[in-house]
Parts: sequence; C-alpha cells; structure tokens
Amino acid sequence: MLEHGGRLNAAAVRFGIEPQRWLDLSTGINPEGWPLVDVPAQAWRRLPEDDDALESAASSCFGCSSILATAGSQAAIQALPKLRPQSRVDVLAPSYAEHAHAWSQAGHTVRSWDGQTLADDVDVVVLVNPNNPTGTCRDAAQLLRWHDALRARGGWLVVDEAYVDACPELSLVAHASTPGLIVLRSLGKFFGLAGARIGFVIAEPRILRALREHLGPWPICGAARWLATQALRDTEWQFAERRRLLRRSARLAEILSRHHLPPSAGTALFQWVPTPAAPRIEHALGLCGVLVRSFSDPAGLRFGLPGAEGEWVRLDKALSQIRP
Ligand SMILES: Cc1ncc(COP(=O)(O)O)c(C=O)c1O
Repeated sequence: MLEHGGRLNAAAVRFGIEPQRWLDLSTGINPEGWPLVDVPAQAWRRLPEDDDALESAASSCFGCSSILATAGSQAAIQALPKLRPQSRVDVLAPSYAEHAHAWSQAGHTVRSWDGQTLADDVDVVVLVNPNNPTGTCRDAAQLLRWHDALRARGGWLVVDEAYVDACPELSLVAHASTPGLIVLRSLGKFFGLAGARIGFVIAEPRILRALREHLGPWPICGAARWLATQALRDTEWQFAERRRLLRRSARLAEILSRHHLPPSAGTALFQWVPTPAAPRIEHALGLCGVLVRSFSDPAGLRFGLPGAEGEWVRLDKALSQIRP
C-alpha cells in the first residue's frame, strides 16, 4: 500500500494527539466543499441505475460527451492498465504515486518521466495536470501535440485532472472522445466529496465500454450517485467556489512565505514548498497537532487549505512556534 495524506488515526497514534484535535492539512481536499443535503431514502434502498442523471450532469458540468462514472478516479487508475497489452509506459515523476504503481502491478514496463520530451519508443504517457504535489501546470496545446504523436502509434495519453476544477481552461475533456486520449476527473478535491468515492473517465466509447465491463455492475453506491448529481448541477456554487479557493490559496502562500517557507507553486487547493528540512518541519508541526504531508523525492511539504478562520490562526501560530 502506498502512503497518502489524510491518515489522521495513524497521526494520532504517532504523536499521541486524539484525531478530533488535529488540523489536517495533509490532503488537497477542499475543507469546506459543496454544502451537503439530505439524500432521499430511495437512494439507499434501491439498486443504483447506471442510466440515472449522474453522467449527464457531469457531461454538462465538465463540457464533454463520452463519460463513465467510477468509484473515485482511483478505481479508473487501477483498471486502465488492465485494458492494454504489455506496453512501455512513461509516468510523470514526481506525481501521484498510484499511477506508476498500478501500471507496474499490471506488468507493464514503467519508466519515470520528467515531462520534458516524448520518447520515440513510448506507448503510454501518464501525467497529472495540474500536478500533485508540485502544482506544475501544462498548457493544453502541448498535451494535444503529444496526444497526436501517441495516437498515431496506437498509444494513449492519460491525463489525471483531479485538480483542474479551479482552472478549467487547462482541461482536455473537450477533446477526449477521440482515440488515444483518456482524461480522469475526481469529485474528491474541488467539491470536497472524497468520502463519496466518485470519479469520471472521459474517453472514446470503446474504452469506456471495456472499463464498464471490467468494473462490473453497481460499482458506485446509489446515495453517492444522487449526491454527486446535485453537486455537479450546482453551477452557481462552482462559479463562486473557484474564486473563493483561489483567494484562499493565495492567502496560504502568503502565510507560508511570511514564515520563510515560500511555495514554488500550488493549485487552488494546496501549496508546494520544496525544502530539504521537510521531515523536520512535518514532525515539528505534528507536535503542534498540525498534519502536513512530507515528500522525499524531491524533498518538500504539501500544505492543504485550512477551513474556518480559527484554523488559519492555528496554522499561523504553529508556524511561528516551530521557526522553519
Ligand atoms: C492526482 C490524484 N488523482 C487521483 C486521486 C484519487 O482521487 P479519488 O479516487 O478520490 O477520485 C488523487 C487522490 O489523492 C490524486 O491526488
């Protein structure tokens, strides 16, 4: 099992601080996501139907046509490698480690890729845009050129857009019904619905049919399908939330810089601070009950957004106590 943020119970044991006393900034999940509403009882009682309104709500929200809902984008990350014969796969590094893990587990030849130029012999390229944890963004024109080259040799470009919702101009979803381009979206980050386990694959219908077959019937809980549909239809909330998150992320960058931890980049939902002192700072913040995620290659810290005003004050205070 790979390491992830959000493991509060483990942090509670490690630092001897009860889970409810933590300020958890270890993920890139919106701490004040889409405002929840009550789910109708029928959504729990009936079997979920895969021709309900979820996928059409997602198509309108993202601006795409050929789409399949999955139990989180994680389910797609694990299933996609099983739909191809043995391939040479270049996976962006550093990035969300589950991609390289899933392609290796499925028996492909996986190479760590710096995202600069496309290798002549590569079959599949996998990248995250904007990238997690570094926050690096790539413009759509460059990605589409790579897609053209890969498609010409029967290859795939897989773009994980888990963090794209606040900057939709970077998204490739509008192009993803053409062969060889596969885009992943998540409702866990911007919408703050990580526990609902809803993600999407946008790709040509042939790939979606194969994925659906592979994932089997009822992969997503009916209550989660219903709730996600409401969130995807709430365009007013989405519009306001984009601006609010960008302001909040800028505030986070400002606080970190004031405490001598200037981020090199970030998204609307986290800031990335490259520093060789990452493990020491993570530990010192942990002793204050502030959980952040430390990475080793390259060394750095990822800070998610605080939520309520008191959480911002708490982060500020913890950073002044630890003297980074
Ligand atoms: C870049 C990226 N992609 C995908 C995922 C999986 O998200 P989910 O399965 O909740 O959609 C994560 C989770 O942290 C992520 O960071």
